Amino acid sequence: MKNRKGILLAGGSGSRLHPVTKIVSKQILPLYDKPMIYYSISILMMAGIREILIISTPRDINFFENLFGDGSSFGITLNYAIQEEPKGIAQALIIAEKFVGSSSMALMLGDNFFYGNNLEEILISSSKKNISTIFAYEVKDPTRYGIISCNKNGVPNKISEKPKKPESNFAVTGLYFFENQAIKVAKSLNPSNRGELEITDVNKYFLKKKKLNVQYLSRGFAWLDTGTFESFFEASQLIRTIENRQGIKIGCLEEISLNKGWISKSKIKLIIKSLGKSTYVDYLKKIVSK
Ligand code: G1P
Repeated sequence: MKNRKGILLAGGSGSRLHPVTKIVSKQILPLYDKPMIYYSISILMMAGIREILIISTPRDINFFENLFGDGSSFGITLNYAIQEEPKGIAQALIIAEKFVGSSSMALMLGDNFFYGNNLEEILISSSKKNISTIFAYEVKDPTRYGIISCNKNGVPNKISEKPKKPESNFAVTGLYFFENQAIKVAKSLNPSNRGELEITDVNKYFLKKKKLNVQYLSRGFAWLDTGTFESFFEASQLIRTIENRQGIKIGCLEEISLNKGWISKSKIKLIIKSLGKSTYVDYLKKIVSK
């Protein structure tokens, strides 16, 4: 089986964060002590994915290239592509067609934050499956998301995008493991009422074909979409609380890469030399001294 490839969609105008995002991508802004995009990349890396395409706007793509380069600092390969206009999440699959080739893929939204026990194991086992997987999470405001509901036997049977009368409280989160066929499915879609190619329509296709695995993230988990000031702040607070209490860092890409055996401690020592004096750097120093 070919290696699964990663697609990270860090586009959008970030209008819900104006004026903060008037001149810069929201995924560059810090969630506590690192740019938001670190957390999304960390999810793909934890799943074992080493080849990632970052898709962003014509305005913002250079920020990401300047920040990460070719990804070799983290033992991964990063490629970059532009989404000219925000025409939907499913459009990212079409943009990524050449990059993906004949592989399977994981699509991750740059503004989604996941944290929880056994997350890495869940990601790895979902990635190994040869059908598509979506991740569902209970929320109190189901009208804001793609929502998955089940029949009376508990079998998932319906997905609706931002339903006015939700049939469940389980949101479809912004991480999707797809088989290669998803690109063809995305290409066959028509834009929705909001003028976008909906990822929900891709999910509906696989659900109908009975080729969709639904992985529920249980109550100890945190899933936040960081598109508003409130959720942005909440995510920062959560990260700060856990990091300060446990002395660990969430989304430290060098640490994940070291644990996976993708980079060495001497590589991290070089990275430390190229960085300043932040607490992130102190943490890297702690890792290499272990
Ligand atoms: C998108 C998807 C939605 C999903 C959400 C997760 O919503 O359309 O199905 O639940 O991401 O963050 P949007 O951000 O486009 O409102």
